[in-house]
Amino acid sequence: MNILVLGSGGREHTFAWKIKKSPLCSHLFVAPGNSGTAELAINLQVEVNDFEGIKAAVLKHKIDMVIVGPEDPLVNGIHDYFLNDNSLKKVTVIGPQKAAAQLEGSKEFAKEFLFRHDIPTAGYQSFKVNELKKGYDFLESLSPPYVLKADGLAAGKGVLIIDEIDEAKTELKKMLVDSKFGDASAKVVIEEFLDGIELSCFVLTDGENYKILPTAKDYKRIGEGDTGLNTGGMGAISPVPFVNNILLDKIEEQIVKPTINGLKKDKLPYRGFIFIGLIVVDNQPMVIEYNVRMGDPETEAVLPRLNTDLVELFVAIRDQTLNKIYLNINSKSATTVVLVSGGYPEAYAKGMEISGLEAVSDAIIFHAGAENINGKVVTSGGRVIAVTALGEDYKSALATTYQAVSKINFKGMNYRKDLGFDL
Ligand code: AMP
Ligand code: GLY
Repeated sequence: MNILVLGSGGREHTFAWKIKKSPLCSHLFVAPGNSGTAELAINLQVEVNDFEGIKAAVLKHKIDMVIVGPEDPLVNGIHDYFLNDNSLKKVTVIGPQKAAAQLEGSKEFAKEFLFRHDIPTAGYQSFKVNELKKGYDFLESLSPPYVLKADGLAAGKGVLIIDEIDEAKTELKKMLVDSKFGDASAKVVIEEFLDGIELSCFVLTDGENYKILPTAKDYKRIGEGDTGLNTGGMGAISPVPFVNNILLDKIEEQIVKPTINGLKKDKLPYRGFIFIGLIVVDNQPMVIEYNVRMGDPETEAVLPRLNTDLVELFVAIRDQTLNKIYLNINSKSATTVVLVSGGYPEAYAKGMEISGLEAVSDAIIFHAGAENINGKVVTSGGRVIAVTALGEDYKSALATTYQAVSKINFKGMNYRKDLGFDL
């Protein structure tokens, strides 16, 4: 089979790395890819939202299967685009159709889905620009901190958690009236604050059956001790050490099963990954968000623990036979540390040469914001490299990961040295 992975980050390098191990894959392409995927696959100069460009590439390279990494093309309807085109409709697309991708594309849609299917989540109301006064009243009825969410996609920046009521009102006005997040904040979801510990659960579904992948936890803040600005993710640990079988059972019974059944009842076609963001409050898992794709950097910690052939899983999704597959998971822990450019998540420089990558032997290196210029690997983004190692437990995995990190360098390199501090 010829396979195309869409995207250019550490997640997509990890997909490529895992797919490349499969005897089912004959030729592997990544669009647009990065310096890491270039070592494993053929990078195609096509952007993930350029559907016509993707179509041309799929036909030219006789691609049989497309794995969609990021959410944008899914929310924009890439799967539907394939289904509605005679020359593409036989190509397997891993990722939900547009209607189901609204689970990530609209926070209000996700909340309505959660309530309709009795899935535990925080109480909420949503407001449009002409309902500002009602929004203020709802804020007054809550106790702090206040959680404000732009309804649409805002590149991970659309959630505000605010302690003071006056500031919450000001921000609500900025979002609704001043379009703080553009169209994404034309509607704002205000929800109850949940106080608990976070983890993520990853599910693969063919629309009928599902498989639960290993749990993971990511470290979103730039600063040690979970301080400072939010980032795309500074590292990940899998499995999440505090998750026991009782909690896993609750997650499966109260959240995963009703989610899959809800998709069926609502006729939302879904073949792909579901990333469920959870907060555990007094041993009760509650959903904080759905993403319609894998997480980044969680993928870099989860997939190295999967012994099962990923392409075999994708074929089972295509054939709706996921129930026939046994998932073989490595019992070891995996930890991922993300090396970022100085200044990230604010302004940062690009084009810094990365050294020491070849000196790493006992960890896996996934490229993210990195490109190959005249034979040199240089930085091209904020999150540059993700380093993953396995160990008997997360502490030994972390020790090996940090050992590998110490060999890598680029000007301005920054990373969190405290992963696991909270466990
Ligand atoms: P989201 O994009 O919805 O995942 O929100 C981003 C982050 O905000 C989450 O990872 C949580 O840390 C936090 N968050 C979101 N919703 C809530 C909530 N209702 N209560 C507490 N924290 C929340
Ligand atoms: N690491 C969080 C995300 O992928 O959204």
